[in-house]
Amino acid sequence: MTAQRIYDTVADDFSRVNDLIIQRLASDVPLVEKIAQYIIESGGKRLRPLLVLLSSRALGYGADDHLKLAAVIEFLHTATLLHDDVVDTSDLRRGRSTANAKWGNAPSVLVGDFLYARAFEMMVELKSLAIMDVLSHATAVIAEGEVMQLMNVKNPDLTEEQYMKVIHNKTAMLFEAASHTGALLAGADEHREKALRDYGKHLGLAFQLVDDVLDYQGDAEAMGKNVGDDLAEGKTTLPLIYAMADGSDEDRQLIRQAIRKGGLDDLPAILKIVRESGAIEYTMAKAREQAELARACLDGLEESGHREALELLTEVAVARVN
Ligand code: IPE
Ligand code: IPE
Ligand code: MG
Ligand code: MG
Repeated sequence: MTAQRIYDTVADDFSRVNDLIIQRLASDVPLVEKIAQYIIESGGKRLRPLLVLLSSRALGYGADDHLKLAAVIEFLHTATLLHDDVVDTSDLRRGRSTANAKWGNAPSVLVGDFLYARAFEMMVELKSLAIMDVLSHATAVIAEGEVMQLMNVKNPDLTEEQYMKVIHNKTAMLFEAASHTGALLAGADEHREKALRDYGKHLGLAFQLVDDVLDYQGDAEAMGKNVGDDLAEGKTTLPLIYAMADGSDEDRQLIRQAIRKGGLDDLPAILKIVRESGAIEYTMAKAREQAELARACLDGLEESGHREALELLTEVAVARVN
């Protein structure tokens, strides 16, 4: 499998990052450790840490701090997931009950805070102001992205441009920060720093576009998340924006009402409209466009197995089913 080949490129680093992640979850407060462990050990693709490892190695990094940086980024990611599932009232994540479904909203939010804080403790240990600058900024932007999205819940008038801004902030920013800080750690020159940074941004946009397709088109079992969560929350994502713009008046009204109402009553009808409107193809074409932009960012890098893995990652991001 292609995806497996990517992980194999940094297999040793990858397992060391996983060990470090577990080790740094330690807390004297049992419930903190329990919930943090629950979500971290339920798996996840570990794509963002992978991005750190590959980006730093592709630029010739030879020391060990990339492991800590990778763990920091996964902690930030996991913190956003704990909070996101509360906000989205999701009950399935990584094939298991979400932490909020199991323990309630309050512990999930607080343990999310703990993971942010632990990430910042570890970030300081890296002793790089440049890296702290990128990661602290990214963390703020992600929170802004989630709030922007929240402000637009049940708003069927969200434009494609506004949608792109939301997904850039809430998702692409952390991908961007992962590859950017990987490059910074490796002491990249300005040109390579920008190349890796842009690579992460485009990859992250592709990734979220596909995520929003999977929410209509995916298989819950493979994804480990529910189909229809976005509609249930009244989230206006690109498949719906396209289907509203392209569809008959009747279809448009149905989608608008379903977004305003939230819930899953209209899911079967909406699924049919989305699938027949070409919205899936349109959104996937946008995702492929972003993946291709990401790939092109790698053009100036030296040939290496790590660079090749970064290239493959752009293909995997759009072919993924989970
Ligand atoms: C989920 O990210 C949140 C989104 C940005 C869509 P992932 O799909 O990378 O989640 P895990 O870590 O693999 O579970
Ligand atoms: C995920 O957005 C973005 C963040 C976690 C910041 P979604 O709400 O679309 O992600 P899933 O579908 O719950 O994983
Ligand atoms: Mg969500
Ligand atoms: Mg989603």
